[in-house]
Amino acid sequence: MKLKHTLAALGVALATMPVMGDELLSYAVPGGNSGLRLAWRASADADWQSIGRGFNFVKSDFGPWGSHKKMFSPRLMVNAADSTWTCTWYAAPDSSVTALATSPDLVKWAPQRYFASELDLPRDMRPLHPIARTTATIDGTEVNGYCQEVPHSLIESLQKYVEHRAELSALYSQHAVDDSKRFAGLKDVTFSASPTPDASYPISDKLIGIFFEDINYGADGGLYAELVQNRDFEYSPNENNAPDWNSTHSWSTSGQGSFKVDTVAPIHPNNLHYLTVNGPLTLTNAGYDGITLKKGDKYRLSFFIRTATPLSIQATLTDDSGKTVGRTSVKTKGNGEWTKYTATIKASKSVSGAKLNMIFPAGTDAAVDMVSLFPYDTFKGHENGLRRDLAQTLADLKPRFVRFPGGCVAHGNGIDNIYDWKGSIGPLESRKPLRNIWSYHQTRGLGYHEYFQFCEDMGAEPLPVLAAGVPCQNSGIAAHHSHAPLTTYGQQGGIPMEEMDAYVQDVLDLIEYANGDVNTTWGAKRAEAGHPEPFNLKYIGIGNEDLISEVFIPRFRMIYDAVRAKYPDIIVVGTVGPFYEGADYDEGWRLAHELNIPMVDEHYYVDPSWMIHNQDYYDNYKRNATKVYLGEYAAHLPGRPNNLETALASALYLTSVERNADVVAMTSYAPLLAKEGHTQWKPDMIFFNNDSVKVTPDYHVQKMYGNNAGTRYVPAPLKVNTTDRNVVNRIGMSTVLDETTGEYVIKLANLLPVTVTGNVDLSKLGIEGGKSKGLRLTGAPADTKLTPEEVTVEFPAVSLPPYSFTVVRVKR
Ligand code: AHR
Repeated sequence: MKLKHTLAALGVALATMPVMGDELLSYAVPGGNSGLRLAWRASADADWQSIGRGFNFVKSDFGPWGSHKKMFSPRLMVNAADSTWTCTWYAAPDSSVTALATSPDLVKWAPQRYFASELDLPRDMRPLHPIARTTATIDGTEVNGYCQEVPHSLIESLQKYVEHRAELSALYSQHAVDDSKRFAGLKDVTFSASPTPDASYPISDKLIGIFFEDINYGADGGLYAELVQNRDFEYSPNENNAPDWNSTHSWSTSGQGSFKVDTVAPIHPNNLHYLTVNGPLTLTNAGYDGITLKKGDKYRLSFFIRTATPLSIQATLTDDSGKTVGRTSVKTKGNGEWTKYTATIKASKSVSGAKLNMIFPAGTDAAVDMVSLFPYDTFKGHENGLRRDLAQTLADLKPRFVRFPGGCVAHGNGIDNIYDWKGSIGPLESRKPLRNIWSYHQTRGLGYHEYFQFCEDMGAEPLPVLAAGVPCQNSGIAAHHSHAPLTTYGQQGGIPMEEMDAYVQDVLDLIEYANGDVNTTWGAKRAEAGHPEPFNLKYIGIGNEDLISEVFIPRFRMIYDAVRAKYPDIIVVGTVGPFYEGADYDEGWRLAHELNIPMVDEHYYVDPSWMIHNQDYYDNYKRNATKVYLGEYAAHLPGRPNNLETALASALYLTSVERNADVVAMTSYAPLLAKEGHTQWKPDMIFFNNDSVKVTPDYHVQKMYGNNAGTRYVPAPLKVNTTDRNVVNRIGMSTVLDETTGEYVIKLANLLPVTVTGNVDLSKLGIEGGKSKGLRLTGAPADTKLTPEEVTVEFPAVSLPPYSFTVVRVKR
């Protein structure tokens, strides 16, 4: 159900010969908390009537997230030459920012531009006089707006458009909780289908991957197995508002000695803060919500110390009653230089909530930094590796690629917060900690090298995403400092053009780090990190749901051109904004086609019913042009649960994505991980705490797809015994051929509250029917804890239970 984007598509002829008659009022609600609203009246003595009651024709993009985006005094101007519209408004309460957007029809809008003053607006786009300022009462609220005469046909066309939008919003807010009413009396739903291999076509073999971002404590405190929190003493108040968010966060002390935070002669300039300790003093680290220990497991303790006298330092692990459950001691040299020491501690007991204590004897006068406690038992046994249970849960998805390091983390909040990959490699003590856009601290112990390694360990393609020279579109500060001229701040400033060459070089260097020979500068660094073989990087993402603005385009082009020139085989993945429609989507796709970008990254978080009713979304995409990476998506219900309803919406939608997997090359559900108690965003695919991993129904759907991928799509249009779209759109089937095993994989989704029976004729596949083993996820829509069950499916007469997703593999 594609949204009709233009008025023409709605069958509305735009007036080319304006016969004025009605008055159109443009306004925003007092306080600036709305977008452009419109009202009309037939004559000066008639009452004003809103067009679309609260409908925002365009919203301001300026400023950080949500309610920070304001619109004041929107004025509309029609361009006499081509009947296009220009809307200007103030994007700040003190009128210090003027915004401008153009539209052919008041429905579709071009990306916005921002100016320090109205006088900076392009001459032909300045509001014309006379536009009368008027006070009007609309839907019971008094507003100030600007009015002008327009032809009645325009009012009619806008009314028709908002009616269409209202119908769509009703359609896109159908929830399973109302299914008993919606489908009262529904029975005997049947369908038939017959997969036809003669009509099969190749599809992507990389369709299911993972989106990894350090959000919700996904990396530090999560997948990254480090157990000491704030090991580098680099927590900084600019990362989080909590009063104790500073160099001593998570640390406490006991004993008569003292300590202080110091920055003189650090181990490395990137790692400025450390503690100066005067003994006797015990430094205690509380870990990330405590430290979880497994009885009998060994843990690697390491730390850097600078001391002029030899010391004997004790380290203990204590449980929540203070009892020692592990101990070691380290004798240091007194060489007066930063020196790293390691030791092993064995846990005598399984504990969650343990603490690490570093006991410095009397007479200690030492500088201490990088205090780390790491399990030996990591995923694939890597030192500085990943939490085994979590990493294994991800590997079990059989992801074909991993996108990292985000998300918003990739482009950061302001240009100084852009994820600089070079700061995330090399010896841990030299890595550059980074403020996490989700308001915490990135040690970057899980950095680019470890991401590449994880991909290799899982047999997944790495897909690093780098900023396109612009930070997050919702950045509060986009320039190097907040007092920069307007053109460099706002919701999306960019790296100053004079610094872009260096930034482009960083992008090229990344490719060299991943793929270059050990004799190259960056290939040598990879080898130094223990991986002389290349990582075989094939994809690189440039940009993350950015505004496709005049700031973005030249920077993107510089990077894109440079990568293509030096590495023509690398597949560059561009970006087309944060939604499935709108200015950035349109402009991003226009740019993709103009530059022939191999692939672009689409994002949409939508209601489950959007997925139900948009299974034709990709049907009309150009087949032999830019491919799609659906890089972030999830079904969002009110309250943001992960339940069977959200999971089935994805399962159903993915049947249509598989059908279109000649165009959609990759997909990744987002976000991936969320630590209980530290969740900034819901829903997520996997929840966890220090002790356990809790997968969701959405995880199971991803796993069922990841483990049952194909290489050719075998069409089998469904014939359902009704034309009711609410029924038809809730049944989905997809058949793919897995050429590596010669098996056909049939996926069947039923989102109805009744059993659906189907006649799935497999004879064209050379299969006469009979029983096949499969997996099925089913339950009540609100269920959150479900596991797929093994089932036997009998063809051709299949029976799909209410609210179910079934995957069956069949062989000729
Ligand atoms: O997935 C969470 C966030 O959603 C990502 O960081 C960002 O790209 C998107 O807005």
